Amino acid sequence: MQYKSTVLGLLAASSAAYAATATSSANPCSIGSKATATAQTDLDAFASCKTITGNLTVTGELGSAAIANVQKIDGSLIIKNATQLVSFSADSISEITGSLELTDLTILTTASFGSLETVNSINLVTLPAISTFNSKLSSADNIYISDTTLESIDGFSVLSEVNTFNINNNRFLTSIQSSLETVSDALSFQFNGDNTTIVLDNLIWANNITLSDVASASFKNLQSVNASLGFLNNSLESIKLNNLSSVGQTFTISYNEDLTDLELDQLTKVGGGLVVANNTNLVKIDAFKKLQTIGGALNVLGKFGTLDLSSLKSVRGAADVETTSSNFSCSPLKTLQKKGAIQGDKFVCKNGAKSSSKVISSISSEHKAKSTSTSDSASSSASATDSASSASGSSSSSSKSKGLAAANFVESSSIFGVFAAVVAALL
Ligand SMILES: *[C@@H]1O[C@H](CO)[C@@H](O)[C@H](O)[C@H]1NC(C)=O
Ligand SMILES: *[C@@H]1O[C@H](CO)[C@@H](O)[C@H](O)[C@H]1NC(C)=O
Ligand SMILES: *[C@@H]1O[C@H](CO)[C@@H](O)[C@H](O)[C@H]1NC(C)=O
Ligand SMILES: *[C@@H]1O[C@H](CO)[C@@H](O)[C@H](O)[C@H]1NC(C)=O
Ligand SMILES: *[C@@H]1O[C@H](CO)[C@@H](O)[C@H](O)[C@H]1NC(C)=O
Ligand SMILES: *[C@@H]1O[C@H](CO)[C@@H](O)[C@H](O)[C@H]1NC(C)=O
Ligand SMILES: *[C@@H]1O[C@H](CO)[C@@H](O)[C@H](O)[C@H]1NC(C)=O
Ligand SMILES: *[C@@H]1O[C@H](CO)[C@@H](O)[C@H](O)[C@H]1NC(C)=O
Ligand SMILES: *[C@@H]1O[C@H](CO)[C@@H](O)[C@H](O)[C@H]1NC(C)=O
Repeated sequence: MQYKSTVLGLLAASSAAYAATATSSANPCSIGSKATATAQTDLDAFASCKTITGNLTVTGELGSAAIANVQKIDGSLIIKNATQLVSFSADSISEITGSLELTDLTILTTASFGSLETVNSINLVTLPAISTFNSKLSSADNIYISDTTLESIDGFSVLSEVNTFNINNNRFLTSIQSSLETVSDALSFQFNGDNTTIVLDNLIWANNITLSDVASASFKNLQSVNASLGFLNNSLESIKLNNLSSVGQTFTISYNEDLTDLELDQLTKVGGGLVVANNTNLVKIDAFKKLQTIGGALNVLGKFGTLDLSSLKSVRGAADVETTSSNFSCSPLKTLQKKGAIQGDKFVCKNGAKSSSKVISSISSEHKAKSTSTSDSASSSASATDSASSASGSSSSSSKSKGLAAANFVESSSIFGVFAAVVAALL
């Protein structure tokens, strides 16, 4: 026995009590506030306990380890820094009232909690050899899985509600499926395998959602996000949230290079800022056609020729809409701004044609040189009709805008930044 000294007496006492009443079903063993097991023999001592009360830590030089017979831990089970541990099982435990933590187990390949249904928190962190983790989890408040070699997270598929669900840096992960319906705090999937597919088709609402490095995501039933929603740097080609009607705070869609299809058929309200930027291939943005109010700033940057904001009535913050395409017209936004619907101080709206003409007359020679070479290469790509219609959005466009225009105007947004103030002043 290698338990910490304070614990030994209590445990021995309860083991003895069990021996005396072997058929009794209620048989809690208290380990005081905590105990540490460093060998299988330490764990064997619990074989007679139905419930363990206290926090149990397993660490040290064990090769494989198991907790048999115990059905409940009234406390936490922490397995950490057991660098020789290859497998762990506790297949009779159905409930852990505190947390289940598996941390820094460098060669652990299998963790089996075949009866585990209820746990407060589950933390799987730095498990660089794990291939299977199984459980029957149906109730957990917090799930945190980071830096593991798990390929799928299906052990959590029957959960219906959690506070947090954070899955990050699991580089072999390809699949996350869950029947989750609500997430009262944060749902976060970031930096996992490049091909990770997420299916959360039962999710109705979440406080906030952040997705990065995701290859596809399905949220068929998602109706509202109370706080923020972010799609940041993913490889997904489509984002379809056709039941989503509101986002309480900031809604960001940025750096999704493969994104071509954005659908938000029911979205009417964004409580914070709306940012759609640096989605290289998103040329048609008609997903916001029902959007009526934006509680923060509107920020749309890219190469889009279409941006439909035809229901928009109010933008509390500033507006900055910039595209390199000459097809886009600023007139509708300018009309909104004139009506006072855009309440922030700053209003910038630019397309390829207009920006070019304004830049040339108003910036330093260093920038002038850059924009001139860009415009040379782009000079043939806009028809007279196209640039005339886009230029009509601005009363001060010079005739030069016809010749410049078009798709590959200035790609560098640092130059965009320099231009912004100038153009705002001219509008
Ligand atoms: C177990 O540890 C947690 C903190 O990690 C503590 O809040 C709790 O009181 C401990 N449980 C017992 C039975 O001591
Ligand atoms: C992990 O365990 C090893 C011995 O197995 C010990 O030397 C080391 O200090 C422990 N690390 C931590 C962070 O507890
Ligand atoms: C989030 O919004 C949903 C739907 O409006 C609501 O039922 C839920 O109580 C909200 N949750 C939080 C944490 O505010
Ligand atoms: C991701 O999927 C694509 C196509 O399905 C495949 O070509 C690529 O090799 C995969 N990448 C990884 C890292 O598995
Ligand atoms: C989640 O939402 C809360 C507001 O309810 C916010 O304070 C918090 O920073 C958000 N977390 C993330 C990761 O976005
Ligand atoms: C919206 O949710 C309903 C169920 O509530 C579902 O039948 C429908 O397919 C969802 N719509 C979309 C566009 O996914
Ligand atoms: C996007 O993710 C890739 C890795 O998948 C990373 O190399 C790159 O720096 C990220 N880009 C941004 C803008 O975060
Ligand atoms: C878009 O990308 C440029 C260049 O990487 C960067 O400077 C800018 O901050 C990005 N904008 C947003 C809103 O992410
Ligand atoms: C601009 O519109 C023309 C004609 O509708 C179309 O062929 C072209 O692809 C569009 N260009 C951009 C960058 O949207």
